[in-house]
Amino acid sequence: MREELLSAVETEDDIVEDHDSPGLRPRTLDEFVGQSELKGHLGVMLGAAAKRREAADHLLFAGPPGLGKTTLANIIAAEMSTQIQVTSGPALERAGDLASILSKLEDGDVLFIDEIHRLPRPVEEVLYPAMEDFRIDVVLGKGPAARSIPLDLSPFTLVGATTRTGLITGPLRDRFGLVARLDYYDVDDLQSIVLRAATILDVDIDAEGAWEIARRSRGTPRIANRLLRQVRDYADVERDGHIDAGIAADGLAFFGVDVLGLDKASRAVLDAICRRFGGGPVGLSTLAISVSEPTETVEDVYEPYLIQQGLLMRTPRGRVATPAAYEHMGVTPPPAGAPPAPGLFDD
Ligand SMILES: Nc1ncnc2c1ncn2[C@@H]1O[C@H](COP(=O)(O)OP(=O)(O)OP(=O)(O)O)[C@@H](O)[C@H]1O
Ligand SMILES: [Mg+2]
Repeated sequence: MREELLSAVETEDDIVEDHDSPGLRPRTLDEFVGQSELKGHLGVMLGAAAKRREAADHLLFAGPPGLGKTTLANIIAAEMSTQIQVTSGPALERAGDLASILSKLEDGDVLFIDEIHRLPRPVEEVLYPAMEDFRIDVVLGKGPAARSIPLDLSPFTLVGATTRTGLITGPLRDRFGLVARLDYYDVDDLQSIVLRAATILDVDIDAEGAWEIARRSRGTPRIANRLLRQVRDYADVERDGHIDAGIAADGLAFFGVDVLGLDKASRAVLDAICRRFGGGPVGLSTLAISVSEPTETVEDVYEPYLIQQGLLMRTPRGRVATPAAYEHMGVTPPPAGAPPAPGLFDD
């Protein structure tokens, strides 16, 4: 039982350091760049809770990968000077897994559940009374002899993260005090993030170099940090280590990142729609198969940014490439009235 429990809870060390960018994760709200409206809301919520010496209200963060959901969960615990316990929807297989984590929480602790949309339903049902009344019902024994004993929990703050709010059930969503959608970052914010990371990593980059990386980061801090490291490698090996706009552009081109920041995989999605499916509409599953990616990855990771950039549209009949997509891919659009593409009615 203890082993099971431990496997469902990551230690704090695992999350304090980001695997791909050690030390880059901001630790306080002040260090967290951008999302100013959300930061304002959080500042007030956390300040008020601290003043009343209560646990902060439960929070749900939704948005595409790499925008800072895990970072914010850690910041909340740091700002409230409390412990954080980390787990994820798929790791909590049984109601008992969650019950034992909940029963060990101390006053004011943050419980972070990543991918909360993947909680099995019986586990989710344990959360309802826990979130609302800080109480769970522990079932002892089986069959007719089973007894249910109410167990009081320490007041805690649940922080949930999901890439898709649409998959969160109504009863769960309603129990969060704040449901926040993280938006893609603008280029100014990403430039600040690149410059901050460059300082931490001791990279020699000027403002224009940082701008060039920022504008190709697909609105995503994680990508900005990754591109900075790639360009640093390029500058170290191919040049003298200093990064300006020209070297950033060369380094990014070298690693296959185009002027819009699209990588090979995102371009493969557009290429499939434009060339193979005559511009669409093409169903999600057909599209995913044709680029050899799981449907969820296409839907959660690649599509949101392509849609935001006006390159792709979701229609009831499937995915459609826009004129901007044809232009970007250098493909001539099919003449109006061309025969419908294959895969039209597959999902
Ligand atoms: N606002 C920000 N300011 C500076 N750096 C940031 C910010 N948001 C995210 N980062 C950086 O981007 C990285 C990815 O952020 P994080 O892990 O919090 O994303 P996430 O939303 O939890 O992604 P996923 O959905 O994949 O779990 C962090 O390690 C951090 O370095
Ligand atoms: Mg995360």
